[in-house]
Amino acid sequence: DWTPAHFITDTVEALKKQIGDRKVVMALSGGVDSTVAATLIHRAIGDRLYGIFVDNGVLRKGEFESVLELYGKLGLNVKGIDARQRFYDGLAGKTDPEAKRKVIGSLFIDIFQEEAKAIEGIGLLGQGTIYPDVIESVSVHGPSVTIKSHHNVGGLPAHLHLELVEPLRLLFKDEVRKVGRELGIPADMIDRHPFPGPGLAIRILGEVTEEKVRLLQDADHLYVKALKDTGLYATVWQAGTILLPVKSVGVMGDERTYEFTVALRAVTSVDGMTADWAHLPYDFLANISNEIINNVRGINRVVYDISSKPPATIEWE
Ligand code: XMP
Repeated sequence: DWTPAHFITDTVEALKKQIGDRKVVMALSGGVDSTVAATLIHRAIGDRLYGIFVDNGVLRKGEFESVLELYGKLGLNVKGIDARQRFYDGLAGKTDPEAKRKVIGSLFIDIFQEEAKAIEGIGLLGQGTIYPDVIESVSVHGPSVTIKSHHNVGGLPAHLHLELVEPLRLLFKDEVRKVGRELGIPADMIDRHPFPGPGLAIRILGEVTEEKVRLLQDADHLYVKALKDTGLYATVWQAGTILLPVKSVGVMGDERTYEFTVALRAVTSVDGMTADWAHLPYDFLANISNEIINNVRGINRVVYDISSKPPATIEWE
């Protein structure tokens, strides 16, 4: 019978066999899947696993630093790359969601390739692919319809022509989390919500600028912190803020303001394919609205998204 402990023993054994004395390179995203996959591979081959974590400028507030610190604690051999400016330059003037995804996806591949080439004798590519990714890449993103081209680390294999190492390929998300816990990965990493590869770039509707990223990071940080402080974080599948390209009139003290609107999104879901808007308590919404408006200069209005998927999608872009 399947237990996380058995899975770990068997998988580490299988990884040793597959990899032998070769080296593995892997893109880490700060998410649950890549972290658990990397930890398993690290158990098998130690520092012959070379992790690469790119700051694309559209991560959550403080994410790059805190995730790198966690990787350090886990003993992973990870190089952090600050590539923020390259992404901001690439995103300048881009307003179409798919164009933004394309820029982020291709810059990411360029940077990853540069870094991978700099490591001598890389033989394999590690990936945190899980079972639903395998299915989804056939059904949703097959040749028939592409609703959103999910540009994430999944775009790598074809470009690199490396043998793949995918220890989570047969697992569902809840199993990945069980394995992660058994591996001793801290709960706040294991219980993280999914976060899209293009990050806040697809939550800033229209053109992405550094200034807008900072605004949204601040609002998002307050929102996620409030969800965690009230115990609501664990009750939703995914939550985040969206910066709307709309300014509206407000009043602050006795001054007129004309500032941006932020939308709060929280959904319940099993797999992200369908989702319901989360019925967050009115008190919570009232408090977080005040907190954001009072603390984030540049935002004077907060709205709550009450759309479910379908017909809406989880992200706005
Ligand atoms: P949608 O918006 O399609 O999102 O309902 C479903 C799930 O996918 C995530 N998502 C992405 N993840 N790259 C990713 O890695 C992307 O381009 C992308 N677009 C959406 C979204 O956050 C949700 O979890």
